[in-house]
Amino acid sequence: MLNNEQQRLLQTLLDGLTPEQRIWLAGYMQGLTGKLPDGAGADAASNKPEVHIFYATETGNSKSLSLSLMKAVKGAGFKVKSNPVNRMKFSDIPKDGFSIFLASTHGEGDPPESAVKFFESVRGAPDGALAGLQFAVLGLGDKSYQIFCGAATELEKELTRLGGTVIQEAALFDVDYAAHTPKWISQTVETLNKLSGDTGASVSAVSFAEPSAVRTGKGYTRLEPVSGRVKHIVNLNDIDSRKQTYHIEIEYEDSVPYSCGDAAGIILPLDAEGKEQTPRLYSIASAPSAHEGEVHLTVALASYKKEDGSLGYGVCSKYLADMKEGDALQFYIHQNQMFRLPPDDTDIIMIGPGTGVAPFRSFVFERAERGASGRNWLFFGDQHAHCDFLYQAEWQEFLATDALHKIDLAFSRDTDHKVYVQHRMKERAKELMEWIEGGARIYVCGAKDPMSHDVEKTLIEIIAMQKSLSPEAAADYLADMGEADRYLKDVY
Ligand SMILES: Cc1cc2nc3c(=O)[nH]c(=O)nc-3n(C[C@H](O)[C@H](O)[C@H](O)COP(=O)(O)OP(=O)(O)OC[C@H]3O[C@@H](n4cnc5c(N)ncnc54)[C@H](O)[C@@H]3O)c2cc1C
Ligand SMILES: Cc1cc2nc3c(=O)[nH]c(=O)nc-3n(C[C@H](O)[C@H](O)[C@H](O)COP(=O)(O)O)c2cc1C
Repeated sequence: MLNNEQQRLLQTLLDGLTPEQRIWLAGYMQGLTGKLPDGAGADAASNKPEVHIFYATETGNSKSLSLSLMKAVKGAGFKVKSNPVNRMKFSDIPKDGFSIFLASTHGEGDPPESAVKFFESVRGAPDGALAGLQFAVLGLGDKSYQIFCGAATELEKELTRLGGTVIQEAALFDVDYAAHTPKWISQTVETLNKLSGDTGASVSAVSFAEPSAVRTGKGYTRLEPVSGRVKHIVNLNDIDSRKQTYHIEIEYEDSVPYSCGDAAGIILPLDAEGKEQTPRLYSIASAPSAHEGEVHLTVALASYKKEDGSLGYGVCSKYLADMKEGDALQFYIHQNQMFRLPPDDTDIIMIGPGTGVAPFRSFVFERAERGASGRNWLFFGDQHAHCDFLYQAEWQEFLATDALHKIDLAFSRDTDHKVYVQHRMKERAKELMEWIEGGARIYVCGAKDPMSHDVEKTLIEIIAMQKSLSPEAAADYLADMGEADRYLKDVY
């Protein structure tokens, strides 16, 4: 116990401290002794500043990692919340406590699709607007792209411009990120502890390994691809079509389990100059339970007119279109945790024109195989019904066997005016709303621009009309669905 003089000195010291300094002192004392008196730990923990974790993700890696970080930070006695940045503006970033941002990079050095508005808001914020913010950034990326971790790098720069203080140097991880993140998590927790005056606590890196949803090892990154062989290749378009879309079945011997919603990354062989090409992704159109040991792809041959009038082709789609049965190729699984099938009894609405239909072939095969009780509704579109109706015979078979419950088709060049999937959705507005209100999930796959934006606008119009909501309230309704994993996009 303290004597009178010590008590007076302590009181004088405490009277002169700010609340933050008192918190620091509490942690410092804990660090010195290594323990607190009974009952005091909870108080000290709850006195630690709040930690805000924000993630910007497209395929779910940053989200999984944010959950691991949250667990560790919570374990160290902090109050902590983890949220996507999807609906945030710069002004929603709290200036108290500590903020940790996890951001992946997509497109060509861009933020994930769902984080674009947040990034725009941060870019447009005035200098100094976030003075007081204490933050750290983690970036996930892939060094085979020209701009490595562009989104995370930009975010750190912008938040600094806004007056934020970096509490830990940004970590930028390549595709083998899972090997490095346990250490990063423990370092981050140590930084937070130190800044909160908790010098005694230490965190074991081992206990924060990646969650099991993230598979690592052979076949899961471009660094460790697997070999496959073309078992079957066929052009799905008929003779009059302006398009060539190849259904390609690849068989492989290595065990590479994938899930519906994943994509395959195709490794291109080195060209004559030995220049390495970025792998290209293709949605997997097969289902693990229906096509064991195989992945199926739906590849549109990309073409353009050269200056001399001749046709040029996209590198990877041409490489795949030219494949013959028996040819070897290298690929890996690009997991997409944000585009998964729901529980078997949930209805699904799938909107996938063109090659966007690929994952939905996988979904319907998988649900048919499992005998899932949820209903499946497909919106598909392309140019002409007679030559561009991809997988027509299979959809008809699925309809006949009740594996597919509804299909709505939009062939844009069969009528005087162009009809797209979003027009068909509008015609079905009432029933779509009934499915949505009954708990259905909406999936959109295919061209980001303009298709996915037009589909989103239409969904908002449908919700506004059917529920008598303002456009803003309808947009919120759809955003709520997104947060509840009920409105999912895989667009490119
Ligand atoms: C998650 C994801 C899933 C995907 N799923 C699918 C899928 O299921 N099916 C599918 O077909 N695609 C899919 N893609 C797109 C695919 O990854 C490729 O981007 C696409 O096949 C084009 O690649 P490429 O190598 O053939 O073309 P690239 O060589 O990369 O060229 C890109 C485009 O530019 C054009 N181009 C190239 N050079 C020139 C030039 N000099 N002048 C003018 N134009 C030029 C090409 O014609 C092409 O349209 C997906 C993409 C992502 C990100
Ligand atoms: C279509 C596509 C484009 C990508 N573009 C980039 C890029 O430009 N720069 C980069 O560093 N990483 C890029 N990546 C790699 C991703 O950032 C990486 O896979 C990351 O782990 C994804 O994290 P997420 O699941 O949280 O979105 C790209 C990935 C995909 C699928």
